[in-house]
Amino acid sequence: MALVPMKALLESAEKNNIAVGAFSVGNMEMVMGAVAAAEELNTPIILQIAEVRLKNSPLELMGPMMISAAKRSKVDIAVHLDHGLKIETVQKALDLGFTSVMFDGSLLPLEENIQAVKQVRKMADRFGATVEAELGVVGGNEGEGKSHEILCTNPDDAKLFCDETGVDALAVAIGNAHGNYPVLPQLRFDVLDDINKIVDTPLVLHGGTGITDEMFRQAVMLGIRKINIATASFDSLARHALEYCKNLEKANYFELSRAMAEGVYENVKRHIKVFSFMD
Ligand code: 13P
Repeated sequence: MALVPMKALLESAEKNNIAVGAFSVGNMEMVMGAVAAAEELNTPIILQIAEVRLKNSPLELMGPMMISAAKRSKVDIAVHLDHGLKIETVQKALDLGFTSVMFDGSLLPLEENIQAVKQVRKMADRFGATVEAELGVVGGNEGEGKSHEILCTNPDDAKLFCDETGVDALAVAIGNAHGNYPVLPQLRFDVLDDINKIVDTPLVLHGGTGITDEMFRQAVMLGIRKINIATASFDSLARHALEYCKNLEKANYFELSRAMAEGVYENVKRHIKVFSFMD
């Protein structure tokens, strides 16, 4: 199998009425754990990294590793820049060979968001890459800094936005938020349904950590074709590392590395099964 454009995975998810999992990675163990889970379940995935994470995990190091892992994988994998904030970062990702880029203009006025995404569309087309954008405001924050208030996507704006920009995937805000939810989220399935009825573009659900399996599946039935998971993988890696080190006087790097990969593998496997309606 191979490194593929994200659009191909979204089309196949649409045909099969499932969602493809987009898993954030920040080091080699995360890449290896995610790919091992996808291969075991023989299911395509998206490997992604958000611009705010590049301080910890530089694009020039992560990018080639993610792309190489995708190329040598037994399943199809798309490599995606999550929440691109600067046009230069989007360009860098495309130059490195990412097969998909997100430009997050969700905090801009609608018209400015449209203009910025049109520019990204043109840049991505030169590479045959997929484009994701966001409309409305997903809560929390993908990184440090101020947490955003949730602002649900307006369905009519979503239709206009997709028609004007020609994006391949649209991230919607329906009460979802990045990071761990303080209380169980109340997703606005009524809003999702309204968007899905008038927008043909595949829809993306951010802030997957903490959403229940039932809610995931309901969202998929209402047109969600890509689901982002970040915090749950970071937390699972940290938990497994802590568990391994507990009661040890001296840790062994190689065993620690295996424990970290295992933490991510377990989390990714669990989510792939939910998103693909496997038992
Ligand atoms: P979580 O950290 O809540 O899983 O969100 C992931 C995400 O949406 C990345 O863009």
